[in-house]
Amino acid sequence: MSKITIAIDGYSSTGKSTVAKRLAKHLGYAYVDSGAMYRAVTWFAMTHNFINKEKFDIDSLVSHLDAIHINFIFNKDVGFAEVYLNGENIEKHIRTLEVSSFVSKVAEVSEVRSQLVNQQQKLGKGKGVVMDGRDIGTVVFPDAELKLFLTASPENRAKRRFDELIKDGDEVLYDDVLKNVQERDYIDSHRKDSPLVKAEDAIEIDNSNMSKDEQFHVILGIVNKALKENA
Ligand code: CDP
Ligand code: CDP
Repeated sequence: MSKITIAIDGYSSTGKSTVAKRLAKHLGYAYVDSGAMYRAVTWFAMTHNFINKEKFDIDSLVSHLDAIHINFIFNKDVGFAEVYLNGENIEKHIRTLEVSSFVSKVAEVSEVRSQLVNQQQKLGKGKGVVMDGRDIGTVVFPDAELKLFLTASPENRAKRRFDELIKDGDEVLYDDVLKNVQERDYIDSHRKDSPLVKAEDAIEIDNSNMSKDEQFHVILGIVNKALKENA
């Protein structure tokens, strides 16, 4: 059966990566978490003190972009690829609320976007890829055979993300997580370069009331149909 490209976009914490990982495993496709790449650049900017609560030195970040090398390496113990920045596994650093508080500002920078979009297109050029993010169906793979756009209520999404952070040992407040989710949604949807918007040909799925299993089975039905159409 010919391989297709599956683009999954949507708001923060809608369950994109959860379903994308499971689909990739099920289909034997590669999974690419494009958000992890923006988080990796943000981590680089934080550790070089280009961004903090007081300032964002965009020029310094842009002039260092060539020094940022991002890789994904499969970890068989966890069952998915982890993100490396310049050879260092940074998976445990990049999902914190602190990184989340800066990442949308970094993702507004056009030079950052063009560099990462270029790498994402290379990662997906052979098809057989499930990639999730904000602009995958609109900018990275406008010709993807299947585009999904996930939504859920902000409160639902913040609760899911809050539970996840608490489980990982992060001491966070639900209200701060909700605020971050809403702030990122706003910045991501209003930026000039590649704003988060549903591609015209994307299928929208509201999973506010779906469990992870339900969401997977609904989406698998759509994927199987797309595979048949593109066989
Ligand atoms: O997991 P969550 O949905 O909260 O975020 P993520 O997918 O890790 O993405 C983190 C941030 O990176 C988003 O809020 C966007 O600002 C940015 N991003 C983007 O601009 N374009 C993408 N294709 C993926 C992420
Ligand atoms: O990638 P994205 O930010 O869109 O979301 P995610 O990381 O896949 O999911 C965010 C959190 O919501 C994770 O802890 C998932 O386990 C959880 N989730 C859920 O409880 N029910 C769903 N239907 C989807 C995700």
